[in-house]
Amino acid sequence: TTERPPFKVRDLALAEWGRKEIRLAEQEMPGLMAARREYGPSRPLEGLKVMGSLHMTVQTAVLIETLVDLGADVRWVSCNIFSTQDHAAAAVAVGRDGTPDAPSGAAVFAWKGETLEEYWWCTEQALVWPDGSGPDLLVDDGGDATLLLHKGVEYENAGAVPDFDPDAEPEEWGVILSLLRRSLAEDDRRWHRISADIRGVSEETTTGVKRLYEMEKDGSLLFPAINVNDSVTKSKFDNLYGCRHSVIDGLNRATDVMLSGKMAVVCGYGDVGKGCAQALRGQGARVVVTEIDPICALQAAMEGFQVKTLEDVIGEADLFITATGNKDIITADAMSRMKDKAIVANIGHFDNEIDMAGLQRTPGIERINIKPQYDEFVFPDGHSVLILAEGRLMNLGCATGHPSFVMSASFTNQVLAQIELALHTDRYERKVYVLPKHLDEKVARLHLDQLGARLTELTDTQSKYLGIPKSGPYKPEHYRY
Ligand code: NAI
Repeated sequence: TTERPPFKVRDLALAEWGRKEIRLAEQEMPGLMAARREYGPSRPLEGLKVMGSLHMTVQTAVLIETLVDLGADVRWVSCNIFSTQDHAAAAVAVGRDGTPDAPSGAAVFAWKGETLEEYWWCTEQALVWPDGSGPDLLVDDGGDATLLLHKGVEYENAGAVPDFDPDAEPEEWGVILSLLRRSLAEDDRRWHRISADIRGVSEETTTGVKRLYEMEKDGSLLFPAINVNDSVTKSKFDNLYGCRHSVIDGLNRATDVMLSGKMAVVCGYGDVGKGCAQALRGQGARVVVTEIDPICALQAAMEGFQVKTLEDVIGEADLFITATGNKDIITADAMSRMKDKAIVANIGHFDNEIDMAGLQRTPGIERINIKPQYDEFVFPDGHSVLILAEGRLMNLGCATGHPSFVMSASFTNQVLAQIELALHTDRYERKVYVLPKHLDEKVARLHLDQLGARLTELTDTQSKYLGIPKSGPYKPEHYRY
């Protein structure tokens, strides 16, 4: 028999602190608070079970409690082993009406510094309700909950879980396979049952969305998906301005090294890379960008950044930030040729942008832990590199991720997506959708007042002249912002 606790967090005594920060965050999250006011009374998620796999931070606490106010029965995990803020997790578990002795909040399974085994255990716990049923709705960030469900169903259909090849596959894959192997041995229909009622998933990030489009293409997607990342009010704000804030926060809290005057390399000049490059320039760093896409490379060049290959600057740069969503960006060999005490960090979703496994396997390498989520790796020749958050996303591993205001925009999209999937299940096929533009514009509108921004209204004649309704949408689908 496997133990099934109602929730699992680091320490419920942290709840009071978490609650204070949640209260301050609510003030900075006007979109979510407006959603509570607008949809709270009709409770569109009443009786629905929502499972979320998304960094368990203070901001996410406000999202979770918004979903609860809309009627949802919520179970939650973090989507990264280092990103949980333990006080936020405790506050959500205790709930608004509970106490540490009598918790009455949502079922959270998350703490900062999980092992990979614990991480996937948490994901499984949150996917299964006490009666053995699964969720009606998923909120995913990076697609790990969606992945576990799909692999569970796939292997149950096949009647077996494939063998793990430690030489060819990452360690984490072995953890997933052994979890599913155990599961299949106990009950060969569990994942079919857990996924049977799912109306859909709303996915938060670029990397998770990429996985969903692949599943749509190969026909394996088991339920509809809403791509929240590609709402303009998500990727053009969270990925850009969020990272512009939190990349520096991560660097400072981990290293406190002076950034001014240093040579900083940003790998990838998409939305995240653009935010990182701007922030580093703001600190007075000399910023170099690497890109594979000529359009993004040209954007970087015309923004005044130098565009080079990693090889051009490998021995010269002081710090490297990967923001590609791709793998093998910084290899162990590259790190062996860096300047002494070069800082290496990743802000992309997964840790495979930096070859941590290769680094740890380098003969004669010595790892010195400076403090949690900050390590020095000393090569046999005596030079070392400084790695943030073991190569996992550094803004959430070493700092507290994006601030509330920008997450309000992202999470208001999440709430709208959840309502859409809950109320209009029949409108969606097993495909990936984005929210309609009028909802995207609505999310932006909800965030203007807080910043003192006053919107100009179209006059009747202007509206006719442009052929745009006074209430929007204001731009065609192909507009790029
Ligand atoms: P994006 O697709 O806009 O940008 C990635 C860029 O990397 C692209 O322009 C691409 O051409 C470039 N690239 C790909 N391979 C490369 C290579 N080998 N060398 C140099 N450049 C390369 O994606 P976005 O939205 O910027 O997201 C990047 C990653 O960050 C994703 O994994 C996403 O999920 C994650 N993310 C992380 C956040 C955080 O808070 N840490 C917030 C938002 C997104």
